Formats: sequence, structure tokens, C-alpha cells
Amino acid sequence: MKKEIKKFAVLGHPIAHSLSPQIHLLFAKEFAIDLEYKKFDINPDNFFENVKRLEAEGYQGLNITLPLKNAAFDICDQLSERSSLCKSVNTITFLDNNIIGDSTDGRGLLNDLSNKKINIKGKNIFLVGAGGAANGAIYDLIQSKPKKIFLTNRTFTKAIEMKKYWKSFAEKTQVTLEAIDLDFSNRLNFDLIINATSSSLTNQHSPLPEHALHCLKNDGVCYDMMYGSQTPFMKEAYMKTDSVYDGLGMLVEQAAASFNIWHQLAPATEDIEASLKNL
Ligand code: ATR
Repeated sequence: MKKEIKKFAVLGHPIAHSLSPQIHLLFAKEFAIDLEYKKFDINPDNFFENVKRLEAEGYQGLNITLPLKNAAFDICDQLSERSSLCKSVNTITFLDNNIIGDSTDGRGLLNDLSNKKINIKGKNIFLVGAGGAANGAIYDLIQSKPKKIFLTNRTFTKAIEMKKYWKSFAEKTQVTLEAIDLDFSNRLNFDLIINATSSSLTNQHSPLPEHALHCLKNDGVCYDMMYGSQTPFMKEAYMKTDSVYDGLGMLVEQAAASFNIWHQLAPATEDIEASLKNL
């Protein structure tokens, strides 16, 4: 009997740049799973219709990338606690006519930090940005029990809103959230600065003023969720420390977490980044 190929895809707008097909095919190879993984450019206005069409065509799951993660959140029949709080879905599973939503971005970030031996328990984190990427990561950051997460954003009111929204969840884990504007005092000391803004897509400058990097501890780490090329934030960070990372590892780890949801298997991720760089 012919073995049925499992069908998956990633949806985004644009989508040409997506590395998800390569990553999932590399994971599938490890377990000899017969898998097809496509990418589709989907107009946000027709998102639901396209998801239903793919379900009807026999797709078992979908990854969802920008700018569709909120739209995906809106159409799911069931959501994980993480997705429900982050208001974002990057992984859809079709099950018994239901659309099940989860978000693996935060786990991707935390697993990548862990791979890099960056321990955030009891540490001070500075999270820059208050959009989808920052809100998608903060659930897992809080669960890793840092001491304090400082939030900032170009539009400061959004950082204040974000703090209000996450406050009670953070308190349950004894994590303090604080919104600070970009003129904050130099007396602060950060162990980790995370750039969760999309600033590098449009801007040649770091979203942080230079003095912010003086607040990084000497053994502190800078992490940009973007990947592909060195961002202005990363360039400035290198003037202060060698511990500067882009988001490629996060991309691979969020894919591994999606793969785990669909196949209940944990793929090896160590060599994937190198394979992607050689493509
Ligand atoms: P994403 O889902 O990628 O996070 P988003 O929800 O549109 O996209 O959020 C983009 C984030 O990047 C926001 O925090 C945004 O700041 P504003 O809320 O002030 O718009 C931030 N951002 C985008 N361009 C920026 C820039 N040039 N400088 C600083 N922050 C920027």
C-alpha cells in the first residue's frame, strides 16, 4: 500500500523568504517521515477561507507567520493557554474538524537561550518592543522566572499597556514587570537585552539610545529576534560585548516546538542553523 505523505505549510504575506520548509524537511529526515511542507502567500483578507481550503485539501497543520498571527488567533476553535494569553497563533493543527492553535515563538526563544547557556532565572531582562513579537515571547520569559523584566517601546503608552496586561500573570511567578521610558536612569543593570521590535526592517538605527547599552552588565547578553543580517541593534551591541545573537536559533527552535506538536517527536536542532547557512 502506498504510504500517505503528511502535508504541512507555512502561511504569510510575504512568504518567499521563509526558511520553514527547509527546517521542517531537515527535521523530517531525521525520523524518516514522508512529509511535504509548502509555503503560501496569503492575503490577510482571505485568511480564513484559505485555512479552511487547506484543511479540506488534507493538510494536517500550518505554521503562521507575519502578519497573520493575530488573524490565526481569531479563527481557532481551541487555544493553548500560552496562545490565548499572547493573543497569537503560529501553529495550527487540524483535528476532527477543529482548528487548534498554539504559539511556539516564546518556547523557541527560551530554548535557544538555553542552547546558548544563557540562564535567565533571577536575572534582569530588558525587553524592547511592545508589539506581537514581544507579547509572543513574554509568557515564556516570565515562566523562566527572571527577577525583573523591564519593558520599553518607542510608543511608551504601549509598554505601559503591556505591563498592565501581563502584571497578574507575572505576579503568580513572583516576577516584577516595570515599564521604563528610553530616558531611564543609567543606574539600571541588565543581564539580557532583547530587541523584539521590527525596527531593523525599516530603520538604519538601533531602537535604543546608546546609553541603554551602558546599562548592560559586563557579562550581559544582547539578543535580536530578527535574523538574516546583522541589525543596527546588534552592531551597536558588539561595541559593548561579544555576546550578541540574532534570532536564527529562535526560528529553528520554534519550528522544533511546532514539529513536536504535530509529530510528538523532538528533533535534533544543533546542526540545523549551520545547514541553513550553507543553503
Ligand atoms: P511584530 O509582530 O513584528 O512585533 P508589530 O506588532 O507591528 O510587529 O510591532 C512592531 C514593534 O516594533 C512595536 O513595538 C514598534 O513600536 P511602536 O509600538 O512604537 O510602533 C516597534 N518598532 C517598529 N519600528 C520601530 C523603529 N523604527 N524604532 C523603534 N521601534 C520600532
